[in-house]
Amino acid sequence: SGHATAALVADMVVDVADFPKTGVLFKDLTPLFADGKAFRGVIDAIVAQYAGQFDVVVGVEARGFVLAAAVAYAAGTGVVAVRKAGKLPRVAHAATYALEYGTATLEISEAAFTPGQRVLVVDDVLATGGTADATLDLVQRAGGELAGFVVLIELGFLGGRERLGERPVHALLRI
Ligand code: PRP
Repeated sequence: SGHATAALVADMVVDVADFPKTGVLFKDLTPLFADGKAFRGVIDAIVAQYAGQFDVVVGVEARGFVLAAAVAYAAGTGVVAVRKAGKLPRVAHAATYALEYGTATLEISEAAFTPGQRVLVVDDVLATGGTADATLDLVQRAGGELAGFVVLIELGFLGGRERLGERPVHALLRI
């Protein structure tokens, strides 16, 4: 159930103070990734929630790759990477977004999707929504049809969901 999955995530997340910088309380999900039962639990929950609704899974660098690959394997689909700038051999689209200091750029390959492919996007955490906003923009520009965006944890007080407008967002745990 949704409650059980949320409890699983809540039990496995570790709060790390002052990472990556002073004043930030980092949500570390690597203990959940490292636990076989918990990892399978969240992957199975995601696959069940979106069963029959997606043809390919997008993972966002870097922790999203781990989740996306497992979801794709479990569902029998392929997996596509949205990467930080400069990593892809055939870049089709780039999206730049503002950070507190400076900017960040994400990229997707020109060969990412066949026309009309339904895309499920997966990441570990939705915080300010800058990463997700850029990623969903890239999926659309590359010709994918967004089936959903799913994260393990949404930090609701940072306003990420509002930044994503009408696009469908699902969080296993909302804080
Ligand atoms: C983290 C997280 C999300 C993003 C969320 O990734 O995995 O991708 O930040 O933050 P936002 O909603 O404020 O954009 P990070 O930038 O730490 O990259 P990494 O996984 O490669 O370390």
